[in-house]
Amino acid sequence: MKSKFFLFGVFNLIVVICGITACSQQTNNNAPTQAMASATQTKLSDLGEGHAIYMRQCSQCHEAKLPETIPSKAWHVIVPGMAWNAGLSKEEEAKVHTYIIAASEYSKQQR
Ligand code: HEC
Repeated sequence: MKSKFFLFGVFNLIVVICGITACSQQTNNNAPTQAMASATQTKLSDLGEGHAIYMRQCSQCHEAKLPETIPSKAWHVIVPGMAWNAGLSKEEEAKVHTYIIAASEYSKQQR
């Protein structure tokens, strides 16, 4: 009886560890890095600001949609509308747009 619970515990632990690893890999792919900035000819500081806006503003009404899940062409249409939804200034919109396209392009290059 006791060992059954032990096995259950071990199983849960494995599930949790896998979850954490998968999750941190996802953030790594999307968080701006110097490598991403270089590969996409953008400035790391712009990407950092864009990412912060994205994390703060684009998850208010729905989960923040991952940049690589939507083609760049579609993002060019979606971002202006969603920036309006989020009440962003033109400057904030430009930064979040730069970040999303860079993250999307970079993750494509990494595949
Ligand atoms: C005020 C609420 C609100 C905010 C803030 C918001 N969204 Fe949305 N978003 C929506 C709603 C509602 C939909 C679904 C309806 C639609 O497609 O227009 C949606 C849909 C989307 C879609 C799917 C569009 C498609 O055609 O499949 C994407 C991608 C998206 N949002 C990205 C963003 C990004 C990026 C930001 C930050 C700049 C953002 N959203 C901020 C409300 C919001």
